[in-house]
Amino acid sequence: MALLLGDTVPDFTQDSQLGPINFYDWAGDSWVVLFSHPADYTPVCTTELGEVSRLRPEWEKRNVKTIALSVDTAESHKGWINDINETQCTIVDYPILADADKKVSDLYTLIHPNALNNLTVRSVFIIDPNKKLRLQITYPASTGRNFDEILRVIDSLQLTDHHSVATPVNWKDGEDCVVVPSISTEDARAKFPKGVTEIKPYLRTTPQPNK
Ligand code: BEZ
Repeated sequence: MALLLGDTVPDFTQDSQLGPINFYDWAGDSWVVLFSHPADYTPVCTTELGEVSRLRPEWEKRNVKTIALSVDTAESHKGWINDINETQCTIVDYPILADADKKVSDLYTLIHPNALNNLTVRSVFIIDPNKKLRLQITYPASTGRNFDEILRVIDSLQLTDHHSVATPVNWKDGEDCVVVPSISTEDARAKFPKGVTEIKPYLRTTPQPNK
């Protein structure tokens, strides 16, 4: 059955170019971005894996570990990583799961036969330190992902987990937030000393509380 937001994601042990990985042990107390891609030695994936590597300081700032997956072997991953490093001017040092037996692909429903026969689709999962699924997006094979958007969602999740706010359309870290509907405007004014603007009784904004 497909995973739903809020579900505890399944644990697994699978090979990677860095050796076997037990997912829960490897993830520890970090947030995780798990992303699948159709196949090694493909152009869009090459650019994506390079970008995820170049963004390493951004992941680290947010306590995020990244892990990729395709249904190719660890040996294949090793050869391809040399190409990614060369062409994308980076060093891929995060694991790429070698899911040749499709064990993880089945657990996470990464094969969509009507889209790509026997290959993993371009899915991305954000998993929190409690191993709960917080976001899942699936892209067509021909469209590379925007990992700045994944970072933006992580900023939103990490903020809204600790403050009674939500983040509006196109929000970026540092911008005004909206007060969640469960809080009255009176309580919001007490809770958010930087101020609350009431545009409508259900639409209240406040400066980002943790900035
Ligand atoms: C790619 O990663 O470039 C790709 C993979 C499968 C289909 C189309 C593009």
